[in-house]
Amino acid sequence: MRINTAGLIGGGVIGSAWAARLLINAVNVRIYDPDQELPARLDKVLNNALRAYRKMTLAPVDLRGELQIVDSIEEAVCGADFIQESGPERIDLKQQLFREIASYAGNEVVIASSSSGLLPSDMQQGIKNPERVVVGHPFNPVYLLPLVEIVGGQQTSEQAIRHAEEFYSGIGMHPLVVKKEVQAFLADRMMEALWRESLHLLNEGVATADELDQAIAYGPGIRWAFMGPYLTYRIAGGEGGMHHFMSQFGPSLKWPWTRFDGPDLTDDLLNRVTEQSDRQAQGRSISELEQKRDDCIVSILQGLRVNETSAGQTLAQYEEKLYRISHTDDQASARFSDHDFSQPLQLHSGVVPPEWVDYNRHMTESSYLRAIGDASDALFQLIGVNEEYHKQGFSYFSVETHLIHQGEIMAGEAFYFQTQILGLDTKRLHVNHAMHATGDHRILATGEQMLLHVNTRESRSCPAAPAIMERLKKIYEGQRNLELPVNCGRSIQMPGS
Ligand SMILES: NC(=O)c1ccc[n+]([C@@H]2O[C@H](COP(=O)([O-])OP(=O)(O)OC[C@H]3O[C@@H](n4cnc5c(N)ncnc54)[C@H](O)[C@@H]3O)[C@@H](O)[C@H]2O)c1
Repeated sequence: MRINTAGLIGGGVIGSAWAARLLINAVNVRIYDPDQELPARLDKVLNNALRAYRKMTLAPVDLRGELQIVDSIEEAVCGADFIQESGPERIDLKQQLFREIASYAGNEVVIASSSSGLLPSDMQQGIKNPERVVVGHPFNPVYLLPLVEIVGGQQTSEQAIRHAEEFYSGIGMHPLVVKKEVQAFLADRMMEALWRESLHLLNEGVATADELDQAIAYGPGIRWAFMGPYLTYRIAGGEGGMHHFMSQFGPSLKWPWTRFDGPDLTDDLLNRVTEQSDRQAQGRSISELEQKRDDCIVSILQGLRVNETSAGQTLAQYEEKLYRISHTDDQASARFSDHDFSQPLQLHSGVVPPEWVDYNRHMTESSYLRAIGDASDALFQLIGVNEEYHKQGFSYFSVETHLIHQGEIMAGEAFYFQTQILGLDTKRLHVNHAMHATGDHRILATGEQMLLHVNTRESRSCPAAPAIMERLKKIYEGQRNLELPVNCGRSIQMPGS
């Protein structure tokens, strides 16, 4: 199933963030929302999403799909391959929207609602082809958090659930099919319990909004990024595991310290929550808070990726897709002819992720080698040494690298590389990568490399394919008149020796 175009109905907090995720994944978006503020909101959310992705991954990221803001539901859904509804959370409005969407959408096109808790059975009642309706419940910010809960209604077909699952996986998400249709699904049911208890604690004057947030953020919240209550409590039971844990703490479930009913939403409670929340924000705007939130989510996802755990695994697979969509053969050749080969090539850039930083708080030496390797990878993509070429059993291996450190760079700072080919024959490639800080262009490091073309099936060097050599020669000839980078060929020695 190839989804080329998605129709989005509603472009508020959630709808505009769906647009960002889809455009980054090269899906064309047609979006309808009667709100005049839609273009400005999209602009802000798309910028936030690009900013976060460029911190999260070294894969080239861009808005690869085409965005169209349209004037009606009909224009948004006619000819779309998938529809995501993100209108206000009111069942009467959703039912009206679903009737209209279904009357224009292709008969087999899945229509998903972002609803946080309404039942798909209620939304599909009396509409055309109700079997294609699902809930696809995402989490804010949709462009970063991978979870999407898929819920079918009484009339939903297995096929619609499978289509939705396949589509969401393809755009880097973690679809979780909720087997039984229940209000508020899984995650919100658990979050509501926590929210209810926290309102009781605030209402009874036990703790302030900020203290209650600290009680989550400094402890359980860190664990929850990679394991839920079951794995957490299994470990909490020690060697005795879950059985021991339940025997010891199970009786407490009946103790009268949890409140099953929410507190009454009195004016007094509303005022106190609002006033404490304002104090906690310390004057920071929603935009500032959103960017801080995104940066922290990115750091957590990167940490989980290193540990190959939960959402980190989803990110690792997603990155492969991001590389794939940015490096299709056609794009590579289009990009090749776009370059000015009389200058050093600027092919690779990024932002220093937190895990690249050492106890001196700057980028650590092994990460320079990693970044230089990535700069070589970017050159390989340009000359056509890509996934397809690797599958044929050919690649370049680094055989020697000379790394010179000249400046410092901290976590979160941006960098770019300038790459120069210094020499080549059919088997060898001699390159220099100069790493610069994006802000003031100061030089940070140089990495001079000798790379060897190999037949990976036979583990021996061999000549590169003629098409690869042709591209390399073009770059080399173009750069021939450039001055040699200052440190080229230098060896380590004491001054004056
Ligand atoms: N905010 C969250 O954290 C969150 C998380 C997951 C799911 N959701 C769900 O996503 C949906 C949207 O929530 P939101 O937070 O983006 O709300 P929102 O208020 O930010 O956005 C709703 C948008 O719908 C638009 N709208 C109103 N009538 C419309 C119509 N007839 N056609 C098209 N658009 C119309 C509004 O102009 C508004 O921009 C809800 O179902 C909600 O439950 C929200």
